[in-house]
Amino acid sequence: MSALIAPSVLASDFANLEKEVKMLNESQADWIHIDIMDGIFVPNISFGIPVTEAIKRHATKPLDVHLMIVQPEKYVEAFHKAGAEIISVHIEACAHLHRNIQQIKALGIKAGVAVNPHTPISALEDIIQDIDLVCLMSVNPGFGGQKFIERTYDKVKQLKNMIESSGSKALIEIDGGVNQNNAKALIAAGANVLVAGNFVFSAEKPKDIIAQLKTL
Ligand code: DX5
Ligand code: ZN
Repeated sequence: MSALIAPSVLASDFANLEKEVKMLNESQADWIHIDIMDGIFVPNISFGIPVTEAIKRHATKPLDVHLMIVQPEKYVEAFHKAGAEIISVHIEACAHLHRNIQQIKALGIKAGVAVNPHTPISALEDIIQDIDLVCLMSVNPGFGGQKFIERTYDKVKQLKNMIESSGSKALIEIDGGVNQNNAKALIAAGANVLVAGNFVFSAEKPKDIIAQLKTL
């Protein structure tokens, strides 16, 4: 049993992005997770389209773009042009989620739905068959380096059941506070993709940490 590993560059050294992306290229990482924050949907601002483009210029792995923004429909196309191969929008930010998902899929890329810790899995029932990924937040979005919320395990199991019983092909991605203490249990519960920010980038040897997550 192993998961796809998606290191989040939010925790990387922005002054040395080229070096950080090259490190990820050489590592066993599967995707590069890109956290976009607008200061409205979440209480923090990260970076946007030009930085995503700059990462893409060096990256040899798919960019997994997590939009923590309101009105994502205004920017989906620009992020696609910037190199996104997976785009997730937040269920809590989308009054017309089905339309948002169709917009992403029409670009020929993977569409994901991100859900905050307070959002019940049942809210995904009528969209699960249309999506490629659920980004299950295991912290409140907005910041890296937060503590993992233990209730996530139950939600992974519920989501796994929903996916299996509906015949959906959606992958379960866990985002926030992933480390050596929870990664194995998350995979056992049904996680397919692990995002890791601080656990990877604050390590002395990030490539070894990625390898460790990969071989769990
Ligand atoms: C939180 C972001 C996460 C975060 C993960 O708003 O969506 O992707 O960067 O970072 P860690 O692994 O440090 O919690
Ligand atoms: Zn994220």
